[in-house]
Amino acid sequence: MPQIAGTFDAYLNQAVALDARLGAAARVLLAVAAAAVEMTGLVDLGRLYGQLGASLASTNTDGDVQKELDVLANDMFVGAFRQAPVAAVVSEEMSEPLVLDSAAQLAVAIDPLDGSSNIDSNVSIGTIFSILPVLAKANGTEAHFLQPGRMQIAAGFVIYGPQTSIVFALGNGQTQIFTLDRRAGRFYQAVSAPVIDRESAEYAINASNYRHWEAPVRAFIDDCEQGTEGPLKRDHTMRWTGSLVADTYRILLRGGIFLYPGDQRAGYNHGRLRLLYEANPIALIVERAAGIATDGLHPILDIVPSAIHARVPLVFGSAAPVGLVARYHSDPQFSARAPLFGKRGLMRL
Ligand code: AHG
Ligand code: MN
Ligand code: MN
Repeated sequence: MPQIAGTFDAYLNQAVALDARLGAAARVLLAVAAAAVEMTGLVDLGRLYGQLGASLASTNTDGDVQKELDVLANDMFVGAFRQAPVAAVVSEEMSEPLVLDSAAQLAVAIDPLDGSSNIDSNVSIGTIFSILPVLAKANGTEAHFLQPGRMQIAAGFVIYGPQTSIVFALGNGQTQIFTLDRRAGRFYQAVSAPVIDRESAEYAINASNYRHWEAPVRAFIDDCEQGTEGPLKRDHTMRWTGSLVADTYRILLRGGIFLYPGDQRAGYNHGRLRLLYEANPIALIVERAAGIATDGLHPILDIVPSAIHARVPLVFGSAAPVGLVARYHSDPQFSARAPLFGKRGLMRL
């Protein structure tokens, strides 16, 4: 797909002119962008609007306490999808799929508000979305959503931060970033299509869970921490925002690796992040920007979902360190700890 400087609408028009089958997905992207402008107005106001970060009495399907903004965001995006060719929506905030227009061509999975714990901290938060073609024949609404992420016709996220940007891939296109000019209320391409550096020495992981991790993850992080004195022979640095969208954006722009592995805490054996509306869209964005996304070993986009709210371990970012983590998982000598430390050094990829 050609590089097009200019407006979001112009990019979509050009993509549809080249491939008319992308027309419906482009309309959904326009609906996402319109809702994102509305969300930006709300997020900008913060406490001036009200208690956006306040916990409600309700919990979502995963048992997380819902925040005021989780619910407002869900209503806003579902409202936007009612104006687009969307057959059904799966949302983090709704236990069951919601049927909108059963004659429409697309199914949308969404995390309406990612990074809820950061709402009151004035740290970037976002919305993550995945757009799938509906199946010609489906046994129930859920079936449309239980396709591997490779089938996504478009996906991406909106980040509400110092800038509001929509990050997406449409059809076979590269990942694109369009930024909202708040004065005009329109998105423009401010940076060219990102390409994730192959190498990086920056990692993102919630290290407070160290004692719960499995051996391969511990060994990799141990080796990062050892810096020049360890087998990786390079000093590393660490970043963790608590907002997947913010960590992803940073990795797109300057490389790095993100890990939310499975761990031994109750309910965390597949990690925390959800396959349909967190891992799959992020994996598409990352792959279309020359990065890799795995569950530690296998590509995220090849996984056949077992349930609409299924969780999955997620490792993504720069190709070299993500490949190395796969090696730590597949080769016991890599995940062995101190005794083989020196040997691991000798056996470096
Ligand atoms: P959500 O706000 O949609 O529940 O997602 C939060 C996610 C993700 O944004 C972030 O990477 C991760 O949870 C943070 O988890 P910890 O609090 O365990 O670090
Ligand atoms: Mn989330
Ligand atoms: Mn969420």
